Amino acid sequence: MIFGVSYYPEITPETEWAADLDRLREAGFTVVRVGEFAWSAFEPREGEYHFEWMDRFLDAAQARGLSVVLGTPTASPPAWLIAQYPQILVQLPDGVRLGYGERRACCVNSEIYRQFSVEIAARLGDRYGRHPAVIGWQIDNELIGPERPRLFECHCADCVWRFRQWLKRKYPSPQAVNDAWGLRFWSLEFSDWGEVAPPLRYRACPGHALDYHRFYSDSLAEYLRLQYEALRARVEARQFVSHNSTAVFDRGIDHRSFARTLNAVGWDAYPGAASAGHGPNPAATALAHDWFRSMLRRPFWIWETTPAAVHDAAFFAEMRARGAHAVLFWLWRTHRANMERGSRSFCDFDGKPYAARLRQVRQLRERLAAVAPSLPSPSPRAPAALLFDPDNVRAEHRLERRPMPYLEGVIRAYLPFWRHGVATDAAHPGDDLTGYRLAIAPGLRLMDEADARALERFVRDGGVLLIFGPAAHLDRHGVYYRRWGEPLSGLLDGVVQPETLPTEGVEIVTSAGENFVCRSGDAEIIRAPNDADILARFRSGPHAGSPAAFTRVVGRGHLFYAATSACAELNRRLARPATERAGLEWVEHAFDDVGVLVEPNGRGRWIFNHGNAPARVLGVEVPPRDFAFLASSAAGE
Ligand code: GAL
Repeated sequence: MIFGVSYYPEITPETEWAADLDRLREAGFTVVRVGEFAWSAFEPREGEYHFEWMDRFLDAAQARGLSVVLGTPTASPPAWLIAQYPQILVQLPDGVRLGYGERRACCVNSEIYRQFSVEIAARLGDRYGRHPAVIGWQIDNELIGPERPRLFECHCADCVWRFRQWLKRKYPSPQAVNDAWGLRFWSLEFSDWGEVAPPLRYRACPGHALDYHRFYSDSLAEYLRLQYEALRARVEARQFVSHNSTAVFDRGIDHRSFARTLNAVGWDAYPGAASAGHGPNPAATALAHDWFRSMLRRPFWIWETTPAAVHDAAFFAEMRARGAHAVLFWLWRTHRANMERGSRSFCDFDGKPYAARLRQVRQLRERLAAVAPSLPSPSPRAPAALLFDPDNVRAEHRLERRPMPYLEGVIRAYLPFWRHGVATDAAHPGDDLTGYRLAIAPGLRLMDEADARALERFVRDGGVLLIFGPAAHLDRHGVYYRRWGEPLSGLLDGVVQPETLPTEGVEIVTSAGENFVCRSGDAEIIRAPNDADILARFRSGPHAGSPAAFTRVVGRGHLFYAATSACAELNRRLARPATERAGLEWVEHAFDDVGVLVEPNGRGRWIFNHGNAPARVLGVEVPPRDFAFLASSAAGE
């Protein structure tokens, strides 16, 4: 596994670079990530470029055998750009314009900002596209970061214009837009393209909001593509072009569309960052690893994590096991000035390394090299697929509730599989699922008919499908189906009432007589098909008597359907038979914070103990915050 660090030569005295590079090299780091915020150092005034300092830095790295990933600095536009072209600033829905003073102040749809971004990327590409130390590029930095407000999308004049163009490609006329979204209500109809505006209010029409979220996600991908093309045309083929995504999944961003234009993907895996408000949640982090690995089906980068995590071997083992071929720490050295000076690093202000922290990194590196010396590429297909659809985030985006019900359901559905060994890829419900034995479809409230048909085909052809409701209530315009669940009628008899009901405190009884209580969430009132085997019923609340879960044979496959994902115990009781029906191994244990991964290539099993107490799993005692790898032969095969 490659180990590397972020470093900021532009804020470090040049006289200290050599010692820093020697020390980090000696500590075993081989990659340095630089430049992603250095726009004002590269171009202090419009058109005046200064690259000599970076030339010297790269040569110093090269002399020490270090590889460099170079960032394009567009996440931090300099003051001159903002002062001279204030129209490039993001305009939030409430009319507030961002301004000088933070990162990400400029709109990716602004033509002027796009041109300046492409220009600086091209200049860097011309200058360093052949530099032997540069192995790759990172475009921008965290296009969507946790720092941006929830309704983060810009509404500036360029956005309005591009949104209209985007809609014109999708709909033949403004009348078609009115019909698709249902705009006659409240007299929101458009009579001309020139009236079409972004959705400003929280209670904007759902179809309108959905399309704006999609448009904005496409705009981000387009912005990446422009820089990608500028670089790709200039840099050697051996240099990859990437972007550091975040696992911010609650904005309706399609990270996968970013990947389609890039040569490598990766994300900034800070402990707990992926959990969208759930607190540190190792399963959510694992799911993000699965998601990024599945995008290009290749080993991925961890572009950033914190040195504060180095004591947590389970955290690093899990990223490796799920396909990370590199981990870069943020950052090597903290600085005395600036707003991120409190960050964790490997050295003190003078650049003197903390010996204990580096010892921990070394141990980590050695242990991982011993159990997972290399990763196959392409990554082997996992036997199971977890279906995730950003449209379902978009459909809930304007809810006040955080965490979002959809994301909560996704993580709850994933949890038992994460705990008990089932390797999963992340896929979109519209993907070809051929080759998977098991598919898990949590909370696809918005589901179009083509996706529903594909799911049905998957089961008829012999797959095992586990659906957690709410499912198939809305079409892609955010319009309700006449009968909820209708697109899934080949699998399900339908949802009885077009309402989801809250589950907090509602009791469930399984066919084996076990009683469980639901947590907060939503449940459907469903009717099970006649040939279904009812696995659980609601025992109390407005759902009393109706099925909570059933299973049935469909074609050559099996369907498991749960009306809710709000009962963790029920989820587990469905996940196990679904796994076993799919012919996959289920590793039983009783530890909430322990994840197990059976490697899809049959090499062995990983146990990750993310808890604070030792855990005995598969006959092995795993200390807290630690891991074990059992090679298949050692596991008695
Ligand atoms: C990341 C970001 C870095 C730095 C870091 C601090 O999200 O990409 O630039 O701000 O957080 O932890």
